[in-house]
Amino acid sequence: MSGRGETRVKVKSRKRRTASSRQWLERQLNDPYVAQAKKQGYRSRAAYKLIELDSKFRFLKKGAQVLDLGAAPGGWTQIAVKRAGESGRVVGADILPMEPMPGAVLFQADLLDPATPALLKDALGGPADVVLTDMAAPTTGHRATDHLRTTALIEAALDVAADVLKPGGVFVGKVFQGGASGELLKRLKAMFRDVKHVKPPASRAESVELYLVASGFRGADAAAPYLGKGKT
Ligand SMILES: C[S@@+](CC[C@H](N)C(=O)[O-])C[C@H]1O[C@@H](n2cnc3c(N)ncnc32)[C@H](O)[C@@H]1O
Repeated sequence: MSGRGETRVKVKSRKRRTASSRQWLERQLNDPYVAQAKKQGYRSRAAYKLIELDSKFRFLKKGAQVLDLGAAPGGWTQIAVKRAGESGRVVGADILPMEPMPGAVLFQADLLDPATPALLKDALGGPADVVLTDMAAPTTGHRATDHLRTTALIEAALDVAADVLKPGGVFVGKVFQGGASGELLKRLKAMFRDVKHVKPPASRAESVELYLVASGFRGADAAAPYLGKGKT
């Protein structure tokens, strides 16, 4: 999707609008994905990232059981519900409240709260085919702190995946700053047969985010030595 040939909107400076909020607003107004999401009734432009990832890797099959972590406002959940169809099951969770969505079971829950994984597992009612995480912690600007926070979130999501995924299952997750490295990559490779880093076209070029698509879950025994890495 491209904004070429369209008129760019410029936002006038107002006293109370900071330079960064003006830039954000200008980017939103000129972003073809934002316009398309509005037109198609998606709750976020992020929906297109999942569409692009799934169009390439085809992990959202009809009848799939899907867990969506960091789901608010619900763009990914909408895509998961649509692609899994009526025979599928989609459970979503976010620390923020979400508007109800037909076809999905949604929870307001912190994934770093030790009680959350059991709640989600219960709602799934059986093993999952796919675990998605688009979770992102608010950034502080302090590189080391931000890195620790985002790593804790993906590790916690992997703990949940290790517990709920069926053998052969798929994990799709957001990572930052060059992707999974060191211990995280070691863990992913121990848990999954195939691990890929992808930058979907809908992910803004200036964003340091990347997505992991890890497929072929090797099962609970392979994941066991790494459990608990998500505890902070
Ligand atoms: C980029 S947004 C997700 C967008 C979503 N995929 C969509 O398509 O609408 C990241 C989300 O992660 C959530 N999040 C951050 N930390 C979390 C935590 N500890 N537990 C649950 N959700 C969390 C945020 O509240 C935020 O809504």
